[in-house]
Amino acid sequence: MSHETPTCLADYETLAQQVLSPQTWAYLQSGAADQLTFVRNQQAFTDIRLCPRHLQNMQGGNTALDLFGTKLDYPILIAPVAYQKLAHPDGEQACALAASAMRATMVVSTLSSTTLEDIANTASSPLWFQLYLQTEQADSLALIRRAEEAGYRALVITVDAALNGCRNAEQRAGFVLPDHISAVNLDGRKLPAHGLSVPAGASLFQNPALARLHDWSDIEWVVAHTRLPVLIKGILAPQDARRAIQAGAAGMIVSNHGGRVLDTVPASIEALPAVVEAAGTTPVLLDGGIRRGTDVLKALALGARAVMLGRPIIHGLAANGPSGVAHVMHILRTEFEMAMVQCGCRSVSDIDASVLWPAGGPGLNRTSCATDAAHSK
Ligand code: FNR
Ligand code: LAC
Repeated sequence: MSHETPTCLADYETLAQQVLSPQTWAYLQSGAADQLTFVRNQQAFTDIRLCPRHLQNMQGGNTALDLFGTKLDYPILIAPVAYQKLAHPDGEQACALAASAMRATMVVSTLSSTTLEDIANTASSPLWFQLYLQTEQADSLALIRRAEEAGYRALVITVDAALNGCRNAEQRAGFVLPDHISAVNLDGRKLPAHGLSVPAGASLFQNPALARLHDWSDIEWVVAHTRLPVLIKGILAPQDARRAIQAGAAGMIVSNHGGRVLDTVPASIEALPAVVEAAGTTPVLLDGGIRRGTDVLKALALGARAVMLGRPIIHGLAANGPSGVAHVMHILRTEFEMAMVQCGCRSVSDIDASVLWPAGGPGLNRTSCATDAAHSK
């Protein structure tokens, strides 16, 4: 690592790019197509302003919360990211060590480059398992049972990446997964419709894998076959939020997969308010574009219970292994706590729309600091 100590998450991004090959960087960093959603995820946070509140009593302040029976010290989780050995030789185990040191919950990808059991043996903090449904139900069930037996506390079913995005940056860079890195949980199986190739002159719809894509009945099936809480990851439309609850989901994650799948969908923070409204009392988390503690505060102010970090974790991992990941988490947590104090919030339950300055950005339909409710606080 460079002798300059990174001070914020953007510094880690710079360091990571310096140590990774352009091909690996293209896989880990880029968004789909023109990367408009990828860029927008961060941009949309900068369009929201905060409303500082001074001279509030902070005695007994804390950031603790309870999510699906998991106690969190603070509302920042590690998002599922595939093939972490691309970023560091110790991959997911390095990440799990950092999560343990930081007492943070890590969500382990189906496509991890270390087995889910080996990761569980490394971690002393809670783990959730991100499930990509398999073509055969028996294979999905085997993954679910393995996660349950290894002590994972929740299942996160990702529904927004049935098809890979048009990853043009990755294609241009010529990225291919190196031979020594693979999806070891899957024993060589491929995801149903990931990386579909369409021969010249053919239609995507002729590919038989398309007819086997999953639907909501598969979510109901998982809920019926596990004792773990099931979260749906990749919700943007309020209609899908309602459908997820009908299917038995315990929670959901507003996400556009970090802008890696379908380009030009809204930033996750833009999609959040309507999903929160549709979800009612069902907990909603958010990921996509979180780079500052103020972003965490804004997401919670708009109704998220917690947020997850994707690329910044990989940047920390590439730049400095477990210490890098732990430092990324520490920086963000500290920034978040500073923002809470500066906005007069003593606990996460104090965080609501009153911390937002009115007339933030387009599409953000909400009450704010200037409304009557906020002033009567
Ligand atoms: C991901 N993401 C992801 N999501 C998932 O459910 N399963 C996975 O295996 C992966 N793999 C993956 C690899 C890489 C390289 C990236 C960058 C992302 C998406 C991830 O969980 C999360 O939704 C986004 O990364 C959040 O956006 P930020 O924090 O990267 O802006
Ligand atoms: C990705 C897949 C693996 O975003 O989810 O690369």
